Amino acid sequence: MNQVPTFCRVWAPATVANLNVGFDALGCALKAPGEFMEFRRMSQPGVHLVNGPNTALPLEVEANVAGKAAASLLSALGNPFGVEVTVTKSILPGSGIGSSAASAVAAVVGIDALAEAGMRRDELLPFALDGEAVASGARHADNVAPALMGGMTLIDPQGKVCPLPVPTSWHLVVLHPQVVIKTAESRAVLPGEVPLSDAVNQAAWLGRFVHDLHAGNELEAMYALEDLLVGPHRGALMPHWDACQTAAKDAGARAGGISGSGPSSFWVCRSAEEASEVGAALQRVMSAQGMGHHLHVTTISTQGAHVVSQSH
Ligand code: HSE
Repeated sequence: MNQVPTFCRVWAPATVANLNVGFDALGCALKAPGEFMEFRRMSQPGVHLVNGPNTALPLEVEANVAGKAAASLLSALGNPFGVEVTVTKSILPGSGIGSSAASAVAAVVGIDALAEAGMRRDELLPFALDGEAVASGARHADNVAPALMGGMTLIDPQGKVCPLPVPTSWHLVVLHPQVVIKTAESRAVLPGEVPLSDAVNQAAWLGRFVHDLHAGNELEAMYALEDLLVGPHRGALMPHWDACQTAAKDAGARAGGISGSGPSSFWVCRSAEEASEVGAALQRVMSAQGMGHHLHVTTISTQGAHVVSQSH
C-alpha cells in the first residue's frame, strides 16, 4: 500500500542578502546557522502552530511567517489535510541573516513534502513570499530565494530568480552583535534618490561581480563587492562598525559589509584559516566593547531548505 507521509522535519539555512552590490536583489545561503521545523499531519483541518524550545512567536496563523506560508500553500493545494507545525527558531529574528525567510521557506518545503506535491522551487517561491511579507511587509525575495534554492541568487526587478555560480572556495565569517535593528528602521536611513554617478558605478560593480562568478574568478569576485549606495548610510546603525571593519580587514578579510539590514555583518575570506583569524579579531572587538554576539565561520550552502527526515 502506498502510505502518505505523516511527519517530516525540514532544515532551512540562514542567508546573507544584498552582499554589498545587489541591494534587495542578491543573496546567498549559508551552511550555518540553520534551523529545523517539524510537520505532523492532523485530522483537524488548518494550520496549528506550536513553539519549540526557546521560541515565543505569535501562534495566530496570519501573524506568523511559517503559519502564513504553510496556510497559503495548503490552500492552493485545496486544503487536503490539517497540519501541526512546530517552529523552533535558531536564526534569531532581527539578526539580518534571513530569520523570517528561513521560516517561510521551511514551511513551504514541509507542506510540499507532506502533500507529496512535488513542486519545483520556483513554484514554491510565491507561497514563501506570502509568509515573508508577514514579517517585512514586503515581498522581498533576496533572502527567500537563496534559502529555498541554495547557493547564490539574483532576483531581477520582475521577480525572475537567476541562480549564479556558487563561489565554493569562499569562507565566510558572520558576526551577529546582540542588538536588534528593525528592517524598517534600517530602510528609513536610506536616501530616496542617489547620485547618477553612484548608480552607474554600483551597476558596474554588480555586473563585474556576476561576470567574475560566471568566469570562475572566485577571488576576483570578492574584490567586486563594493557598496556605494547602502552601507555608507547604514554604518551608523551598526555597533562599533569602524572598529569591526578595521579588525576584519587587518586580519585578512578580502571583502565585507552589512548582512541584509543588519546588525549582522559578513566577511569574505580565502581560506578556513583566514576566516578563523578574522572571526577571532571580530570577537576581540566585541569583547573589548562588552557587546554580546554570535559568530559563525561558514561557507555558502549549495543546498537550500530540504527534508532531513520523514515517516509514514
Ligand atoms: N534587502 C533588505 C534590506 C533586507 O537590506 O533592507 C532583506 O530583504
